[in-house]
Amino acid sequence: MFNLTVHGDDRIARVEPELYGHFTEHIGGVFYDGIWVGEDSDVPNIRGFRKELVEKMRAIRAPVVRWPGGCFAEIYNWRDGIGPRENRPTRINWWTLSDGRYEPNSVGTHEFVDFCRLIGAEPYFAANITGTTPLDIRDWIDYCNSPAGSTSLARLREHNGAKEPFAVKYWGVGNETWGGGGNMTGEMYAHEYRKYAVVMENACRGLQLICSGADHDDWHWANDVLRVLEPSYRILSGLSLHFYCGAAGDPLHFSEEEWYRQLRQALDVERAIQRNWGFVVGYGMEKRARLVIDEWGCWHRGGTGPSSRMKEYGIEPAPNNPNGVENLFEQQSTMRDAMVAAVTLNLFNNNAEKIRMATVAQLVNNLHCLFLAGGDRFICTPTYHVFDMMKDHMGGSALWVSGDRGEIAREKIGSQGASYTVPNLSVSATEKDGTLTLTLANLNVTEQAEIKLNLPGLQTADTAEFTLLTAPDPHAHNSYEDPEAVHLTHKTGSFNGELGIPAFSVLTVSVKVN
Ligand code: AHR
Repeated sequence: MFNLTVHGDDRIARVEPELYGHFTEHIGGVFYDGIWVGEDSDVPNIRGFRKELVEKMRAIRAPVVRWPGGCFAEIYNWRDGIGPRENRPTRINWWTLSDGRYEPNSVGTHEFVDFCRLIGAEPYFAANITGTTPLDIRDWIDYCNSPAGSTSLARLREHNGAKEPFAVKYWGVGNETWGGGGNMTGEMYAHEYRKYAVVMENACRGLQLICSGADHDDWHWANDVLRVLEPSYRILSGLSLHFYCGAAGDPLHFSEEEWYRQLRQALDVERAIQRNWGFVVGYGMEKRARLVIDEWGCWHRGGTGPSSRMKEYGIEPAPNNPNGVENLFEQQSTMRDAMVAAVTLNLFNNNAEKIRMATVAQLVNNLHCLFLAGGDRFICTPTYHVFDMMKDHMGGSALWVSGDRGEIAREKIGSQGASYTVPNLSVSATEKDGTLTLTLANLNVTEQAEIKLNLPGLQTADTAEFTLLTAPDPHAHNSYEDPEAVHLTHKTGSFNGELGIPAFSVLTVSVKVN
């Protein structure tokens, strides 16, 4: 029995809804034909966007979507994506040498903002600072945000069909500038940031500018960048962090030890959060800037997604994929990926005071995706269900949870034992509008967890809503053949603070409190 205490009077911070955000890049099958099928498609669509995907995104109240990359952003010229679609240029994509696909620019600024409005999310643009000048980015901001009729670019926007401003407030200043985004040192990038940021902030009031941050556990990056930015910190709203969990065995056929190793990697995001936050605080920027974890998730080997069997499923390749090659980086998602998502979102809730936004990579047909789609086929992955069951944490006050989360001993992990440990439980709690929402994940792959909750400062009702994500097997996943193999179950039942959670399962409890 694990004894946990949820402290009703000990509030960490508001969980910004944007912690439950998404990332979409022009790569592989994310846009063509994951999100975008085109207005003339036989696939049900709303103004060219896959209808089922739009509806599912509305259902989870997706708060923000990052676009157009990733690495693609580093070579993107926003002018390619405006005006009549038939006149837009076809360009080499950042990823063309990997999959032979060119970029048709069918989805540009207008379409992407339309997608965000359809699903009710804020757009978060990543600006190219390696191939464009500050003036180009200033012009993009002008095009998006200047009042109707005020500037030539605002008039051009109107001419292209949008009189009213798009009001894009989140802007990333480059992407992975330590790598593909310019291959810079932290100091070099910080000087570039200052130059771009000062031009960008003068193009429109109230922008939130996000500085390209570290990869995984490269602490030096944050130190090098923030040291140079310190005097101009007022034009920094977010410090980004990319945190991928590397492969731990096969995405579908992993061993018990690989299950735990993957979860250990996911849990380590907390260390990355704490270290990077330490630099933000150390340089005195915490009043204004918080972390933006704008790429996170599992990065398995590709080739396990359904696009590797397009012909068998009778799926016509997207127009920019004439050779019918599988979607780059597309991977299947099992209960293990769902568990990584639950653990990560719990840690985001628990560190709410440090994080402004987080966007999982990537939405569809790619890494750690919520959906797999092609032609008229469409399924939700177990990760989607985690976003669904945890959505009520958005906007709540994170409560401190103390107590015994257990520890799966090294010698119990794998036949040889392991060099690391993993807790049995991951948990977070939030309170919003008189409802307490708790998400508990049982990381143990073989044993049910019995939990006793103490709830000081919280008078709970004696009934609660329970939402459970479980499956007969930790390798379970959804497929075109069996789209509901992993699904949520809901029940209303009595609540006395005692809970049982099956092995490798996630439970969300929602209970009224006084
Ligand atoms: O998500 C795939 C790629 O991973 C992104 O383009 C890049 O930013 C990161 O390295």
